[in-house]
Amino acid sequence: MTAINAIDFTVQINKLHHLQIVEKVYSEELAPNQVLLEIDRFSFTSNNITYGVVGEQLDYWKFFPTHSGFGIIPAWGLANVVASKHPDIQVGQRFYGYYPMSTHLLVTAKTSKKQGFWDVTEHRNSLPAIYNFYTDTAQDSSYTPETENLISIFRPLFVTSFLIDDFLAEENFYEATQILITSASSKTALALVSLLANRKQKETLNLNLVGLTSKKNIGFVSKLAVYDQILSYEHLADIREFEKTVIIDFTGNHNLQYQLQRLLGNNLIYNCLVGLVDWQNQAGEKELPTKGEFFFAPTQAEIRQKVWGPTEFQQRLGRAWQFFINNIQQIISIKEYIGPESLKVLYLDMLEGKVNPEHGNIVRLSSSSRI
Ligand SMILES: NC(=O)c1ccc[n+]([C@@H]2O[C@H](COP(=O)([O-])OP(=O)(O)OC[C@H]3O[C@@H](n4cnc5c(N)ncnc54)[C@H](OP(=O)(O)O)[C@@H]3O)[C@@H](O)[C@H]2O)c1
Repeated sequence: MTAINAIDFTVQINKLHHLQIVEKVYSEELAPNQVLLEIDRFSFTSNNITYGVVGEQLDYWKFFPTHSGFGIIPAWGLANVVASKHPDIQVGQRFYGYYPMSTHLLVTAKTSKKQGFWDVTEHRNSLPAIYNFYTDTAQDSSYTPETENLISIFRPLFVTSFLIDDFLAEENFYEATQILITSASSKTALALVSLLANRKQKETLNLNLVGLTSKKNIGFVSKLAVYDQILSYEHLADIREFEKTVIIDFTGNHNLQYQLQRLLGNNLIYNCLVGLVDWQNQAGEKELPTKGEFFFAPTQAEIRQKVWGPTEFQQRLGRAWQFFINNIQQIISIKEYIGPESLKVLYLDMLEGKVNPEHGNIVRLSSSSRI
């Protein structure tokens, strides 16, 4: 019986700056249908920090439980099978999906046609289905080895943007003539504005697409050339406050919400709360005039999958993805972080908002990744 050494990158649930690397050992002796995966790489963006920030509210700590008071932040990436007791899953197969920030994941697999498997480990059964499916890269028509870093970084975020674009179009944009996107440099925002700009052109919509970003990120955001107007947070007065406006908020910054709501008044017709990148500034003294509506991608995905069916859902998503990925790879450069010490630096920087939006961060923790 061979033992496999593994590590988990754990963080204290109520004190995200406090982290602990936990070493553990897996046996290659597995129970029926169990599969042991070695995680080759995963992406890391503010979205992972948000998983930690809302981990208790939205059950993100429940995916990969660890020692008491600590949690493992989930991340999207690719892993190889190193041991399998499932008849349809072989050592060496490579799967894309939702992994712990760890070197390994042990799952109980239930295969779905040939496309991949569900992890049906008991504690995951009550969690949103979208997170429990692992895609066999050999069966995935949009997978290529050359784009797997981009897939790890953008695919989960892109799904959200695809769903928001679809949702707004379904609602006829609430009759808005302006869409205001905060944290315009974030990857989810870039995906969203690309989809909106494409729709605007195809359907000749009267929509002013405005990106709000930090002063230092204006140059980067301009590179994508899809926002109609890009403003820094210091220039909110340049917003066309007379337009009927939808806000798509990725920052979660209370004071920014307050300023935008005051500026737009009754012209704010829909306030869509998607992200919390500025998680340390969620609270503020001034009461917000209007409440927003929280957008949760897994819920919307389930609604759309029921209406379109899973096959059509994937086809629509696949077409939109191809269009986006060709554009975005021109402006993003991949940055690799190898080993746990390197991840510590990235994680702590990201917590503090030290983010260079031009970088697509890929983490490689496992020792075979590091050779
Ligand atoms: N509701 C859902 O279902 C859902 C799904 C997917 C993503 N999201 C959320 O969308 C948000 C964006 O995620 P992402 O991965 O796309 O982000 P990202 O690419 O890592 O975003 C980076 C940008 O966010 C801003 N930022 C990051 N950290 C900050 C901080 N601490 N303080 C202030 N600004 C900060 C900066 O943009 P600016 O300078 O432009 O402000 C930075 O360039 C996350 O909160 C994520 O959880 C939600």
